[in-house]
Order: sequence, then structure tokens, then C-alpha cells
Amino acid sequence: MADTLNRIDARTKVTGAAKYAADHNLPRLVYGHLITSSIGRGRIVSMDLTAARAAGGVLEIYTHEHPLTFHGPPPGIAIIFSEARSPLADANVHYHGQIIGLVVAETLEQARDAAALVKVGYQAQPPKSSFEEAKKHPAPPPVTPLPLGKEIIQLAPGVTDIDAALAASEVRLEATYDLPPRHHAMMEPHAAVAVWQDGKLTLHSGTQGPVAHAEEMAVALGIATADVHVISPYVGGAFGGKAFTWAPSMLAAAAARALDRPVKVVTGREQLFTVTGHRAASSQTFGLGAGRDGRLKAIKHFTTSQSIVEDPGYRTTPKFYESPNIHIRLRVTPDMNLPTATIMRAPGDETGSFALESAMDELSVLLGIDPIELRMRNYRQVSMEGLPYSGKHLDECYRVGAARFGWARRGEPGTVKDGDWLIGLGMASSILGAGRAPTVVRVAFRPNGTATVGNATSDAGTGMWTVMAMTGARALNLPVARIKPALGDSRLPVAGPNDQYGAVGSAATATVTPAILVAAREAIGKLVEHATTAPGSPFLGADDVRYVEGRVVGKGTSLTFGELLTRTGTTEVAAEGTTAPPDAGHAFASFAAHFCEVRVNRWTREVRLSRFTTVVDAGTIINEKTARGQITGGVLFGLAAAMAEEVRVEGATGRISNANLADYLLPVNADTVEMDVHFLDHPDPAISATGARGIGELGTVGAGAAYANAVFNATGVRVRSLPVTADKLLP
Ligand code: MOS
Repeated sequence: MADTLNRIDARTKVTGAAKYAADHNLPRLVYGHLITSSIGRGRIVSMDLTAARAAGGVLEIYTHEHPLTFHGPPPGIAIIFSEARSPLADANVHYHGQIIGLVVAETLEQARDAAALVKVGYQAQPPKSSFEEAKKHPAPPPVTPLPLGKEIIQLAPGVTDIDAALAASEVRLEATYDLPPRHHAMMEPHAAVAVWQDGKLTLHSGTQGPVAHAEEMAVALGIATADVHVISPYVGGAFGGKAFTWAPSMLAAAAARALDRPVKVVTGREQLFTVTGHRAASSQTFGLGAGRDGRLKAIKHFTTSQSIVEDPGYRTTPKFYESPNIHIRLRVTPDMNLPTATIMRAPGDETGSFALESAMDELSVLLGIDPIELRMRNYRQVSMEGLPYSGKHLDECYRVGAARFGWARRGEPGTVKDGDWLIGLGMASSILGAGRAPTVVRVAFRPNGTATVGNATSDAGTGMWTVMAMTGARALNLPVARIKPALGDSRLPVAGPNDQYGAVGSAATATVTPAILVAAREAIGKLVEHATTAPGSPFLGADDVRYVEGRVVGKGTSLTFGELLTRTGTTEVAAEGTTAPPDAGHAFASFAAHFCEVRVNRWTREVRLSRFTTVVDAGTIINEKTARGQITGGVLFGLAAAMAEEVRVEGATGRISNANLADYLLPVNADTVEMDVHFLDHPDPAISATGARGIGELGTVGAGAAYANAVFNATGVRVRSLPVTADKLLP
């Protein structure tokens, strides 16, 4: 079984010693507070700043009439996933809650209170903010360098189109699944502390990719990337919301430059809902056609979404099941008066898996075939591109999960009762593409007997600090306590554009750990070379020098590397190790099977989660404990979409009516259970030498479908629009 270790950063976090971005208080620090629009569409015609300027402590108020200078647009793929317009660019209001000003004052309270005194006059127009309305007029997706939005049509010889294949199927299901917008709702709000010295910026700002953040900031500010130093050792949750750069850090940096004072900007909780991205609303129509034997003959997956970012067809359907006929299409609702969408944990995958795995459950009912059996009859042996999987044990996930969970006890819908409670069991699959970027890791031996292992990735709460320490310890044959990981800093190494986004796409562990092995080998080679060549070394000229568990051995003597470096008066012996992505001869994915039990009150229709089992096939599990945290967190993230979460947009005003953590419902401890998480732990040598595939988003995929399928089994009511609220379960 895998190793398991408590987080090495646990003590510093729970004692409050860990400094998150907003915890940095510098001499002469001043505070910025964002002003946001209170209309959904139109123009600002006046901003009366008189009272705000007269308020105590106010240094400056930036607006479109007195803007900060930004260059743009965002570089590379950031333009797809973050706001394309620079803040304070003009008088136009594109959505409710758009940034229209920044007040900078001596204290946080002064900035906030002055912002409340700004009087804004608008020329308002009716906003186009209703997705319900907009989805009636979908448009083809924009063309981007990414495969998002790509139409996929695969038809068997002689089949004219997908509708013909559906019509020729003996059993057909057609259903539409609707998901509302959702927000990341991470604990730590987007915050930035910016300080300039000699034309160079130091930025404390929580991010998933320190180097990408530095580059995006550099472009926005019109300076060289090398002149931006992003520091982000601790990130209080991100989920995709901190993968790209948002206006609060841009405004903090630009104001700090203009005022020649360090500036701190902390985004308010309500503001987070509008200025830092979200998961776009979507509506997916599935057509499934099958023979009486359950073999799929046609899969039609047509989606309309607010944004190309949320493309469930492309992300999900090609990966799940074999079918001779597949047609996947995305349409979007452009130019809506809504905040900018971005990636959010399992973008497209959570959305698509809810629809697909609900549809498969519905098909299993129509066919009278057990849901697991139906999935096995359509098991994908090779990828849609015809490649074999590097490792796929989803069948074992189903088998092991069914046994652990007691799947055989499942009854007919609406028939299993415990007093006033209806009991239901549901299952769903999770499949998530397993990425691995090229990267560079630096390993350095130090005279104090420690070794540093550095990469410009991020730990957004995932356990990366610990995974890097454990992998470094294994590679160097040292106790974990003697490995000093370094991450969350734009000056640490990365391989380039494919790697600079750091902890995204559930790929950080798969990316960084093999590079640690390479860098450790290189560093050991350098250490041996140092031992035989450095003045003052007792190993000078020896030809039998070896590295053994932290010691340099040879010539009849033995020193720890710390002793050696102390003797030679050397501050470090270091090497970089570079890795390439895995070979192209395989398809790479992680897999899981989810099993969910719910209890539904027969009178109130309250749904209680009562049991959850997940069996995971994700290659080597590097740290069982943090991996378990990733899976349970990911599952709850997916369950949350089914249980409670919904950004409510008022169609008439474009205002989000629940933009706070009181009204935006999230499951809390009382809503969940101790989950049964089991790792198959089959190492995957084809993905890398550590054999680890990604898990960060794996738990999220399919979890909502398992819940909705369990609710159906309990009640006989199929809910195709999330969240599953009691009103949707009334008979
Ligand atoms: Mo994840 S949505 O790739 O941060």
C-alpha cells in the first residue's frame, strides 16, 4: 500500500503561522477597496467622488475618468479563461458587479467606507443576463487554439447522421440536463499585496501557477516577466479560480506603482462572485440509442453553455463509452451581461459526467439492465483516437466498489423504506484525462544536511508540499524531515508555456514527481563529482566514490553530504532535472467508481446523504493521506452541485441575488458523511517513473450523478436540473 504522511505544512497552517497573501503587512502599506457596478448593462454617466475624497485617510480614487494604466489583452490562453477587458478601461458596464473604481486609503476601513460614499450615475439598459432566455438563441463557439468547442462526428459506414443512428436503435433515451452557474467559493479570497522597488514588482498573491501569474501581470503592467516576482507559498483554495490573473491583483500592482506605496487589495466575498470567474451555466441534451442487449449504437451530446470554457461534450463523452456513432457539439450564448466564466474544478467534466451518467442510469432503467452491467457492456477498451490506455482498471473499481458498498442490496425504485425514509442507491463512473507536462526541478544539497527540491508549482491545499518532500526523500534516500521543498514562487524553475500554469488539470503530481527523480539523480552525480574535485575534500582523486543514503562513501572513508560541503566550504551542490511528457502511444486517464446512498423523507422530501464509497484507479498513490483528502474533497465538491450549489442570477437586473456564503448554499459537515475511499494503487509505468496519475478533480467527476441516481432509486423521481432540491421531488 502507498505511503502515508501528515502534511508537513499542517502545523504552520493550523497555528496560523502560514502567511497567505493578505497576511503580508509591509511598512507604508495602504489599502485598496474595489467599487463595483450596481447595474447589469449600460454606461456610467457620473461619478461623484466629493464625499469619498473628503473622507478620512483617502489617498486616491481610480475610476475610468482617472484610470490606472494597463496594457493588454491577457497573453496566451489567458484571454480565453480570464477577463479580456482591462479594469477601468471605459464608462461601459457589461455586467452587474463589474469593477468601476478603486479607493486607496491608509486603512482598510477608510477605503471601504469611502467606497460606500461614491455616488454613481448610470444610463442603464436592460441586461441580457438570463441564460434561460439566451439559450434559445445559441451561436457556434468562437475558434480558439484549444480543442474546446470542437465538433466531433464519428459515424459508422452507411450512417447518414446521428439522428438516423438513434432512430435505428431499439431503445432510445432523449433527455436534457441543466446546470446553473456555480462559484469556486474558495476559503481565501483573491488578495494581493504589491510592492515596487527600482521598477520591479514583488507580488504576494495566491495562485495555482506563479510563473503564469507573473507573465500575465507583466503584460498587464507593460514590464518584463523577469521584473515580476510572484510569491505564493500558501493558497487557501483555488479550484481553477486562481489559475489565471484577475483584476484585483492588477489593480493592487498598478496602484502601488502610481502611489509609490505598497498596496493591499482583498476582494470582498460578494465581489468574488462577479470579478474572479465562475463555472458557466449549461444545458445538455443527450440522445442515447442502444440495442436490447444494452450495447450503445448512438450517442448524441449537444450542449449550450454561457462559455466555451464549459464544454462537457468534448471533455467527457469521447472518454466514457464505446459507440459506433457519436456526435458531440457545443453552442454558446455570446455577449451576455454576466461575469466572465473560467475553469472550475473538473471544467466540463463535472457538467458532462452529470448528464452522461444520469442518462446511462435512465437507459439502464429502460433496458432493465443493472447500471454497472450496462457500463461494462459498453466499456471503452481503447481511446476514441484508437490508443490503448496506459492503465485502466475501471472494471475492478466497479467490482471492488460494489462489494464494499453492498450494491447487491439495491432494490427497485421507491421500494426500500426505513420508517418515513426512502432509501436509494446510485452509482456513476468517473473518468478524467491524466495530463503530465514537461517540467524542470532543481535539487540542491546544503551544508546543514538538508536538500531542497524546487519547482514553481503550487499547493492550493492539495498536499503538494508533502508530496514533493516524500518524493525527494525517496529519490535521495533521506528522511522526509531533511527535504526542504520549495514551491509557490515564480523564480523557481518551470519548463515553459505548457508548465507555467502549475497546479491545474489534476496534473501537478504527475508532472513534478518524475522530474524530482531525474533532478535527484543529476544532483547525486554532481555531489560525487564535487567530492572528487573540490579543494578540501577527503575524496580528491578517488574513483570509487558513491552516494549512499545521504553519505558520500569511498576511499575508505565516509562523510554525510553536509559534512562534505562544510569541509569544502560550499553553500550548495545543485542540479536541475528536466522531464518530457510521456510517450504518445497511450491514452492516459484516471478512473473511479462512485457509489452513493441517500435517505429521502417521504413527507418533506428532504434528502440526506447517508453513505458514499469511491474506488480509485489513478496509478501510484504517492501519499495515501493527502490523496484521500483530495478524493473526499473532490467528491464533496461534485456532490455539492447536486445537493445545494447554485448561483442565482436575477434575469431582469443581472444581479446575483445570493452572492455571499449565507445565501449561496454549500454543504457543511452536517450534510456529509465519513466517506469510504479505496485506492487500487496499480502503478502506471507508462505515464512516468513514479507511476502517478492525477486525482485532484477525479472525485468531482460523476459524484453528482451518483447522488441524483440514488435519489431516483429512492423516490422514482428523476431530477435533471441541479441542484436536487426538495421541491423537485414532490410527487
Ligand atoms: Mo483545475 S479547474 O484545472 O484548476
